[in-house]
Amino acid sequence: MTGPVESNEAAAETVDLMDPALMGDPFAGFSRLREKAPMVRGVFPGVDTPIWLVSRYDDVKLVLSDRRFVNDPANVPGMDVRNIRERAIQARGIPAEYARYLMDGILDVDGADHIRLRKLVSRTFTARRVAELRPRVEGITEDLLDGLAATPADGVVDLMERYAYPLPITVICELVGIPEECRPRWREWGKALVSLEPGRFGDVVGAMVTHIQDLIERRRAEPAGDLLTGLIRAHDEDGDHLSDTEMITMVLTLVLAGHETTAHLIGNGVVALLTHPEQLALLRDRPGLTPRAVHELMRWCGPVHATRMRYAGEDLEIGGMPVRQGEAVMAMLVGANYDPREFDAPDRFDVTREPDERRENHVGFGHGLHYCLGAALARQEGEVAIEALLRRFPDLALAVDPADLQRQLLPGSWRLARLPVLLA
Ligand code: HEM
Repeated sequence: MTGPVESNEAAAETVDLMDPALMGDPFAGFSRLREKAPMVRGVFPGVDTPIWLVSRYDDVKLVLSDRRFVNDPANVPGMDVRNIRERAIQARGIPAEYARYLMDGILDVDGADHIRLRKLVSRTFTARRVAELRPRVEGITEDLLDGLAATPADGVVDLMERYAYPLPITVICELVGIPEECRPRWREWGKALVSLEPGRFGDVVGAMVTHIQDLIERRRAEPAGDLLTGLIRAHDEDGDHLSDTEMITMVLTLVLAGHETTAHLIGNGVVALLTHPEQLALLRDRPGLTPRAVHELMRWCGPVHATRMRYAGEDLEIGGMPVRQGEAVMAMLVGANYDPREFDAPDRFDVTREPDERRENHVGFGHGLHYCLGAALARQEGEVAIEALLRRFPDLALAVDPADLQRQLLPGSWRLARLPVLLA
């Protein structure tokens, strides 16, 4: 725990997580809140009690690694949790029949259930397995770059649509076993889910669930070497090991988490480099710096700014401020990644910052038991995508003023709506 003992009065400010000013500049916003107090109150649509927002580096790590915090409110002793998640999901217009698919995921569970779910899929995403995938990731990348190179020289290209999205969606779909013809649908569903348009959520989740059920039937008839086949085996051969809902939720989580985030690491990364010519020049001169540059991109402009909610399993303190049993806490990764208590001159973007390319100091992939399962894969995709793009297009430039880049304003994330670039 950090800081002097402070009273919760210091946190009298209540922050609206959907405030467009905060979502438009979360770096400044959460730095200010971080310096004001170890925690401030946040409100979020569909969650009828305020949430503690934690932004200091050590406190964020504590919340994500201390087992007194749980992801499933049902694990808080004596807490009436019957409807916490149902209410939040219904507030988004998702019918009850589909709500369970959004409540039974790997991020919603603790303890033995979490270990069981994580074990089923973790083998696919180890550093070694990911390294074996590298040639395939490079192949997909080169094909996409060939497609871009065929664009007229003076043409403006939306790099999100033509490069940053197609790469991770192809990789994760191949790993999971989603046939090629179905992939555009996932792109559309991903887009619809983040649009936060009320009323569309239900239809989209329904369509995804029906599609996965259909894929499972097809794979049962024709097993392959993919993750879906592995999950079906775990389900069919030992029914207690993986329920129907868990299997569908796992596929849904992996495909969405596996591309929606990585696409924005690539997009945000390209913008960071194109707006910092001296860093870009350094990287072009020394491509060996790319792994360190990707660590720094994750810290400086990573796509995920907040974790899921955690619940205090007992009364405790964060930074000297009391948290009561059952209260919800959200770890603001963006605050921690800009905390001067941990990072020297945190506002400075410096591709050489990490002294060791094999380890990372930032918390852009979370921390602790729920640390991102796909971190090694995402890092590798980021490295391959950025290195190959810079190599293929030495004159790559933004096609709009950086101030005019449009962002999708979403609480807890940092995303581009489009990335118009000139290739030559
Ligand atoms: C968990 C970020 C890519 C799958 C997480 C968490 C973060 C995160 C912050 C922790 C959430 C929490 O504790 O509440 C990112 C970022 C990515 C990325 C920034 C890309 C740049 C991926 C990829 C996959 C993936 C490619 C595909 C396998 C997951 C899963 C979890 C997770 C399954 C839950 C792990 C658990 O609960 O044990 N991710 N992620 N992520 N991520 Fe990622």
